[in-house]
Amino acid sequence: MHVLNVDGIKKHFRSDMSLAKREVLRGVTFHAREGEVLGFLGPNGAGKTTTIKVILGLIRAHAGSVAIFDRPPGDRRSMARVGYLPEMPYFYPHLSLTEFLEFCGRMSGVGRSDLPGRIDRIAEMVDLTPHRSKRLKSFSKGMLQRAGLAQAILHDPDLLILDEPFSGLDPVGRKMVRDILVDLKKRGKTIFFSSHILSDMETLCDRVCIIRDGVIAKSVVLDDLLKMGEGTVEVAARGWRPEMMQGIREYVESVRTTGEDAFLVVREQRFVRPVIERLFGGGAEVLAVVNRHRTLENLFLREIGRPDARTAKEKKEEKLVFTGF
Ligand SMILES: Nc1ncnc2c1ncn2[C@@H]1O[C@H](COP(=O)(O)OP(=O)(O)OP(=O)(O)O)[C@@H](O)[C@H]1O
Ligand SMILES: [Mg+2]
Repeated sequence: MHVLNVDGIKKHFRSDMSLAKREVLRGVTFHAREGEVLGFLGPNGAGKTTTIKVILGLIRAHAGSVAIFDRPPGDRRSMARVGYLPEMPYFYPHLSLTEFLEFCGRMSGVGRSDLPGRIDRIAEMVDLTPHRSKRLKSFSKGMLQRAGLAQAILHDPDLLILDEPFSGLDPVGRKMVRDILVDLKKRGKTIFFSSHILSDMETLCDRVCIIRDGVIAKSVVLDDLLKMGEGTVEVAARGWRPEMMQGIREYVESVRTTGEDAFLVVREQRFVRPVIERLFGGGAEVLAVVNRHRTLENLFLREIGRPDARTAKEKKEEKLVFTGF
């Protein structure tokens, strides 16, 4: 079952100065299955926050449709099952954390008798128990981010929509948020979150949608990504001598040497055996053979057209600038 369906949404903004339209979402389509952790990845300005706002019914799309639990955005019953962490949450500065969570709990329909126990548990989860009576205006950025996450999960929603949940957190805070998300996933919750931190996406997500210039450029299942491979294999050897290249030259993409150690990048898996046989035959020792799988980072850079987006002319010009020094 699809918990979230986003189908061909388009959104434009008009600039303040002219009536010209700027199309920010140009037909965004994706879905999230029940129990799935779906990452939303894209460069700054790609349209992630705008998409999330459309999904939640905070702004209206000009075309396309959204369904959350098969209902349109803003539907009261389905929205009660959604937890949302905005990119830039607003906090009432004079409230203490407890007062803030009491307010959020009442707004999201948590029963009066349930609320104190839940606040205790959630404050503990986000490691803010010692700060519960402090006013939010005295909180640091990372503490506010954790308070934001606390309000998003307080009513035990089935779908979490988190816009940059790792932003402003130190490594301990990041691990804590990661652990919370892993725990929620184990409990069958569906999580849709945007982030720039690719390693967090890699460890958490079942699938990642890459958005570029207002369209989904790619949707990738993380398990498939790890299986895909770049095609190359790295071989580390000790006792390397340059003459060992004879007979294997066409199998090897590059060789890096430090003293008698060499690091060979073998073009394809099927060339690994002859390369290793050659190394052994020459009296070298093989220290490691590593399959270079494709990472989310190189896929992301490829999809958004960096770092090779510069044309040959641009690269040449760049070189000329440096030669000029
Ligand atoms: N209310 C608005 N009025 C005019 N332009 C807007 C408005 N909101 C967003 N935009 C523009 O839409 C584009 C997409 O913005 P959005 O905030 O969705 O990007 P994002 O992918 O979330 O980026 P980031 O990674 O920086 O958070 C940007 O160019 C932004 O300037
Ligand atoms: Mg954003």
